Amino acid sequence: MKQVEKYPYRIIHPAMVVLVSTIDSKKIPNACTVAWSMPVSVNPPLVAIALQKRHKSTKNIEETEEFVINVPGKELLETARVCGSVSGWEVNKFEKYNITSEPSKVVNAPRISGALAYLECKLRARYEGGDHYIMVGEIKFAEANEKYFSDMWNEDAELIFHFGGDVYGKTVKY
Ligand SMILES: Cc1cc2nc3c(=O)[nH]c(=O)nc-3n(C[C@H](O)[C@H](O)[C@H](O)COP(=O)(O)O)c2cc1C
Repeated sequence: MKQVEKYPYRIIHPAMVVLVSTIDSKKIPNACTVAWSMPVSVNPPLVAIALQKRHKSTKNIEETEEFVINVPGKELLETARVCGSVSGWEVNKFEKYNITSEPSKVVNAPRISGALAYLECKLRARYEGGDHYIMVGEIKFAEANEKYFSDMWNEDAELIFHFGGDVYGKTVKY
């Protein structure tokens, strides 16, 4: 064993990559790649994402109190790369990178077309987390592609896992 001084949090990666879509108060959409997400309550159904305080997505969620967790498959890997390296403070990522969106069912933030599943959330709480805020959302509507998900993901679903840096991969069942 050796002491890990650089990126110790990567010890608890790989983490599943999601795309968090939001809108701002002027209805301009944004999408941000997030590896730090987790369920936090079954009833009520709550999920949390850790978002850097300076992100445009963070500001959007503070303004509109909602967000969508889009679960991308491998075909959206390039979308995950750009949404994780360019900020909505600089560009409209949907326009610049031709990301197709569609209306969500119960929130105003759009969905990213072609994702394998969606969690539409309303902001329930925001906690301090160092240089991040922990945004807790209540799931108001959840939908998944039945080809890949039935109570749990099957192995045909090519979910994206982030190892660190530009390294991505998949997981398989034992
Ligand atoms: C694979 C990957 C995972 C990421 N995970 C997170 C995360 O969990 N939390 C976070 O705040 N930023 C994360 N980022 C960084 C943001 O996606 C990135 O800074 C993005 O440009 C912020 O966009 P915004 O300013 O439009 O919200 C991740 C980036 C990548 C490429």
